[in-house]
Amino acid sequence: MAMTFAVLTILSFSEVSNLAAMHDLNNKQHGSTISLLLSINIHFKSINGHRKHLLLKISPQDWRKNMVSLGIFTLISTLFLVLAAVPPTASSSKLSPNYYDHACPKALPAIKRVVEAAVNKERRMGASLLRLHFHDCFVHGCDASILLDSTSAFDSEKKAGPNKNSTRGFEVIDQIKLEVDKVCGRPVVSCADILAVAARDSVVLLGGPTWAVQLGRRDSTTARKTTANKDIPTPFMNLTDLINNFKKHGLDERDLVALSGAHTIGSAQCFTFRDRIYSETNIDPKFAGERRLTCPRTGGNSNLAALDPTHANFDVKYFNKLLKKRGLLHSDQELFNGGSTDSLVEAYSSDAKAFWADFAKSMVKMGNINPLTGKKGQVRLNCRKVN
Ligand code: HEM
Ligand SMILES: *[C@@H]1O[C@H](CO)[C@@H](O)[C@H](O)[C@H]1NC(C)=O
Ligand SMILES: *[C@@H]1O[C@H](CO)[C@@H](O)[C@H](O)[C@H]1NC(C)=O
Repeated sequence: MAMTFAVLTILSFSEVSNLAAMHDLNNKQHGSTISLLLSINIHFKSINGHRKHLLLKISPQDWRKNMVSLGIFTLISTLFLVLAAVPPTASSSKLSPNYYDHACPKALPAIKRVVEAAVNKERRMGASLLRLHFHDCFVHGCDASILLDSTSAFDSEKKAGPNKNSTRGFEVIDQIKLEVDKVCGRPVVSCADILAVAARDSVVLLGGPTWAVQLGRRDSTTARKTTANKDIPTPFMNLTDLINNFKKHGLDERDLVALSGAHTIGSAQCFTFRDRIYSETNIDPKFAGERRLTCPRTGGNSNLAALDPTHANFDVKYFNKLLKKRGLLHSDQELFNGGSTDSLVEAYSSDAKAFWADFAKSMVKMGNINPLTGKKGQVRLNCRKVN
């Protein structure tokens, strides 16, 4: 399917000789018998951004005898073959947390300021911004395609089922973009990176974990409404479908459970959980009764309910409630319904540290899905429009 490739970075022979010479000098000067260890970094990169490091330690004496070089290259080729068999996912080859350090060191603080103001005004905005990044990444990668308005050339993803009358926060993203371009003096920060940073800042503001956001994504020049309808999971899916959906995006069961923990914040509209509270049996009757009060059998489609009882705080209540059959969405309760993900839900419900660590890790992984880098795509001047 998708291409997998390996990049092998090894010290060149001249560098090796230099190091060996330095080693000799050191030995003469200090009479040291400690052998200089040479590191050979083998960076393996697959499209999902996993990077595997291997440190091989050999002494220069051995190297000079050329005893091991053949063996090393055999090992490298073997590794290449073995690692190339890893399932293809997304490339983050050029993303880095320091991407804007030189071009605009003021960019990240500026994003944070605007997110802070928006979340202080309305706490739910933190949830909405986190969800925007997710819905961006699940449609052909994190390329800000979700932000584009319709043109004669394409339909906006905002009109796709999972987004229509549901995703929000676009005005905040516009505001961030204006502010960031102002402090940077030019449009250097992509809309896709703004989404990734705003998601992280939102989680932190609501009391959740922090992580280093990988940066350097560029923005798409098209939107894909049909893909949005096909690739974003629905709240009506069963566990098998959820697992398969995430797998298609290079994410595993652990990522599914950890990232679903995002439902510890924010709200859902009545039509997304009506069937669950009126027709399902794996639901606490008292909880179903409470939810029915504001979500009638007919009408009230857009009435809101909290995704977890502490939906303004990033905590483990979401997982706690799943254990009690109090998940709001069908897809939420699927994670604890006698299947393979039960044990992880149980673990997270009593271990905030584990949830936080995994959530941060999975957010980085999700943010690495198929980014546009190098000369691909563009840095939009206006997040709603192609330049
Ligand atoms: C596992 C599959 C998922 C499904 C089926 C799903 C489905 C939904 C649905 C139906 C809503 C309510 C939308 C509305 O009523 O307008 C929602 C809200 C939300 N989702 Fe998910 N979601 C999933 C995964 C995720 C992930 C991976 C994240 C982020 C990492 C996320 C973050 C959120 C947030 C924060 C909200 C609240 C948004 C707000 O209040 O504005 N969800 N989700
Ligand atoms: C969209 O949402 C608004 C309020 O959130 C609601 O009044 C309206 O009926 C919804 N429209 C559709 C088509 O669901
Ligand atoms: C999950 O749902 C799909 C339909 O979307 C169905 O084909 C499949 O049999 C279901 N799997 C289970 C285990 O219920």
